[in-house]
Amino acid sequence: MGQKLSVAQARSPAWIGKEVVVRGWVRTRRDSKGGFSFLELNDGSCLENLQIIADQKLENYESEIRRLGAGCSIRVEGLLQASPGSKQATELLAHKIIVYGWADPERYPLQKKHHSFEFLRTIAHLRPRTNTFGAVARVRNCLCMAIHEFFQNEGFLYIHTPIITPSDCEGAGAMFQVTTLNLADVPKRNGEIDYSLDFFDRPSYLTVSGQLEAEALACALGKVYTFGPTFRAENSNTTRHLAEFWMVEPEMAFFELEDNVELAERFLRHLFGRVLERCPEDMAFFRERIDPTAIETLERIIESPFVRLSYTEAIELLQGSGRAFEFPVQWGRDLQAEHERYLTEEHFRGPVILYDYPRQIKPFYMRLNDDGKTVRAMDVLVPKVGEIVGGSQREERLEILEARMAEQGLEAQNYWWYLDLRRYGTVPHSGFGLGVERALQFITGLGNIRDVIPFPRFPGWAEF
Ligand code: 4AD
Ligand code: MG
Repeated sequence: MGQKLSVAQARSPAWIGKEVVVRGWVRTRRDSKGGFSFLELNDGSCLENLQIIADQKLENYESEIRRLGAGCSIRVEGLLQASPGSKQATELLAHKIIVYGWADPERYPLQKKHHSFEFLRTIAHLRPRTNTFGAVARVRNCLCMAIHEFFQNEGFLYIHTPIITPSDCEGAGAMFQVTTLNLADVPKRNGEIDYSLDFFDRPSYLTVSGQLEAEALACALGKVYTFGPTFRAENSNTTRHLAEFWMVEPEMAFFELEDNVELAERFLRHLFGRVLERCPEDMAFFRERIDPTAIETLERIIESPFVRLSYTEAIELLQGSGRAFEFPVQWGRDLQAEHERYLTEEHFRGPVILYDYPRQIKPFYMRLNDDGKTVRAMDVLVPKVGEIVGGSQREERLEILEARMAEQGLEAQNYWWYLDLRRYGTVPHSGFGLGVERALQFITGLGNIRDVIPFPRFPGWAEF
């Protein structure tokens, strides 16, 4: 019957002359005058299809094979042979074709060759069958494996931080609440919601970041990383925001900001290098179809050091640029997308690491500098996407941390355990978070973050 192969395996010359079996979904059928048909078969193992030759002598040629079209699922047994065509090394001469499932050509939504990304988002359950979304899925897989590989090689422990949490790590308040209270009849006591009747005895939320818990583990184990889904309920209907996204967060004891920056830069280089090395076919597709500079951009980044610039220097540079920005550039305000783009796309033409931000625009946990005005924050900005990494050295001094929390209106008693880390054997430590989808957006050149996660969640959308 033959060895079961993936399409990727069957495309390699290693199996020429062997009886093999492949399974997958038909992309196209073309009937030739010579009494046979060509089927293009894809199974997701690679971008390219396997060419199947189905002769009219096959018993179901008229009854079934000549009715096959886009989306039908089949199993093919046959002889793998060298292909005379220039596009592929091999082709499969079918001895037997079994149809698993039909796809009505009148109704199957992926008939046309080109669909808009907007339309494909409405059929997120079928879009993995297109070239673009297959390529995204394979690059996403490669990226996640490269993340683990990097940290494992550096001696980090992979840890798991909770998804449900009572604390607001980023202090932004954009959290999804988790409750088992009956929303149609919320229990009240003295006019306030009675959380003693809620599942956890207190308000709780989906996490916006695993950082606070990762700090507890780093302050015992040294170097750790947490990697999981995070949730933000901010009403940002942009091409760079998701309500559910994946973040990898390393946290390191005894690391100061400079060590943190150095690690982040080495980490990003490793990731881009691995994707170029392991997904050449998919990256060539993105270069051809999505962004002509996709490969070149990554290659350039791997070679040249990232620019490092303090926030204050960045403000001076922007103010001196002679550019009329829509949002005014002013020390103490957050940079807008247009400012980030000016720095990364026009001025430096590459990634920029900004550090030492004004204390008032960053969360409570960042270490205060001696100037009293800035904190040891660092953001990695890249062309087109903007911020892909956000991190900092953490405030390890108890009194200063307590003061910063009070300043930002946080109740110290809710963070008692976090403060304990500063009470007992406190150490300098640092960490950062890389948004996996932002990184993928940058790698693939896809314009909308909703197209680099299989089932995106954003305001007004949680279909599937
Ligand atoms: O800069 P952020 O908010 O940093 C933190 O959450 C820190 N606690 C991380 C740490 O130090 N351990 O988020 C980190 C990264 C951003 O740089 C961005 O890449 C991504 O997470 N990100 C988002 N990605 C998609 N959709 C959103 N709504 C995102 N918000 C942040
Ligand atoms: Mg940030």
